[in-house]
Amino acid sequence: MTRAISLHDVSKSYTRGTRVVDRVSLDIEPGEFLVLLGPSGCGKSTVLRMIAGLEEIDEGRLLLDGAYANDLPPSGRDMAMVFQNFALYPSMTSRHNIGFPLRFEAPGMDPRPRVDATARMLGIEEVLDRFPAQLSGGERQRVAMGRAIARHPSAFLMDEPLSNLDAKLRNHLRAEISTLTRELGVTTVYVTHDQSEAMSLGDRVAVLRGGVLQQVGTPRSVYALPRNVFVAAFIGTPRINLLRGMMRAPLGAAMTISLGKQYLRLPEPLSLDHQLLRVQQGREVIVGLRSEAVRIAKPSAARPGEMALTGLVEHVEFQGHEALVHFNTGSSPAVVPDLEAPRPAARSTRRRREGGPGVLDRLRDRAGALRAGPVAVLDEPRSTAPVTPPEGRLPGDLIVRTAPDIDLRHGMQVPLLVDLAHLFVFDHHGERICPAPARAPDLEE
Ligand SMILES: Nc1ncnc2c1ncn2[C@@H]1O[C@H](COP(=O)(O)OP(=O)(O)OP(=O)(O)O)[C@@H](O)[C@H]1O
Ligand SMILES: [Mg+2]
Repeated sequence: MTRAISLHDVSKSYTRGTRVVDRVSLDIEPGEFLVLLGPSGCGKSTVLRMIAGLEEIDEGRLLLDGAYANDLPPSGRDMAMVFQNFALYPSMTSRHNIGFPLRFEAPGMDPRPRVDATARMLGIEEVLDRFPAQLSGGERQRVAMGRAIARHPSAFLMDEPLSNLDAKLRNHLRAEISTLTRELGVTTVYVTHDQSEAMSLGDRVAVLRGGVLQQVGTPRSVYALPRNVFVAAFIGTPRINLLRGMMRAPLGAAMTISLGKQYLRLPEPLSLDHQLLRVQQGREVIVGLRSEAVRIAKPSAARPGEMALTGLVEHVEFQGHEALVHFNTGSSPAVVPDLEAPRPAARSTRRRREGGPGVLDRLRDRAGALRAGPVAVLDEPRSTAPVTPPEGRLPGDLIVRTAPDIDLRHGMQVPLLVDLAHLFVFDHHGERICPAPARAPDLEE
């Protein structure tokens, strides 16, 4: 049996007035693999623990297969949890660790066939008679997974189950988890702060920030149509380039986005998405360019829709199969708070409202995703970094992927082409305005 899990406006506060989970609504389908993704402290584990029944729900409703389940004790939920710090009983062999929960769940049943079948599935038959101290980290984690699987639960709840393992083993087990949960067809909610893990595992990814759900969608849709600048920056490696720009849309002349000393002229005839930018005339915006939208090439090589920029090489990062070139284009990077630093302290709901109600607040309510505070910071003075070689080293504002054998050195001036069909523009609150917000990710597929 597998199960549908729904959260309706679920909130949680540990101290009065401070929501660590703020009105989260989520419908997880039977058999779905849903990843909860977000930076440290954003409330992922708290959401998972509320689903498991280990944490009380303050407000909102949890439905399991459509039935109200807020008050159901954990033992009545038929879910198995796998934690980061998988605690195995040190005095029990792997076999007994895996079979232990069955004593309570299916008293009288001989656990051996199930334990053996689970061990076969996980490839740990050889270590069944060893104690935890005699196992490697990866084997221990498989035994912990085995303990969850042998129960035949109706859902798996996994809280960063791989983060204690080295990178190679993590990748290996990641693939195994994906195969196993799909073979078993059991609903899985998987928590991680690692976006590449989320993208490779999830049927859908739910991005949380400061307790507020930002976006839920397939990995492809959150990457291609991030709702706001936080999601855009959190998902994808190398991280999306985010530059502060100014919209210029004079009547009867070409529309441009100025980026410090340089500008991007939007190709004509304007696409529908670019036409919508006209209303931003004279406003600050955030330009988002994923690395695949920029290439190193002369203006004469431009394809339709590509516009030229010049970049000064700051630093070349050799990656083996490719190189990442950090350029200074004389623009200033936009700052996206909360991306990876742990939240210093949970913000109080009272303080968040101090800005006073108004148009801005209404916009925030509409977007929902902004309840966790501004997604972009544009209020410091604009830097006017020149494109000519600076005295000191400036951090590159544009990262471009290229072949690993390219001969580029610090200080070289290089022509770049930007494919404006792949342009993201966010307004000064950080909400996506290009591609048009009406192109809702979930309607794309
Ligand atoms: N028992 C508790 N009492 C008070 N505050 C708590 C408690 N548990 C969690 N918090 C706070 O709630 C917020 C969300 O915590 P949570 O553990 O859900 O975050 P997380 O997204 O899982 O982070 P991480 O990636 O670091 O595990 C954090 O600010 C945390 O300090
Ligand atoms: Mg956690």
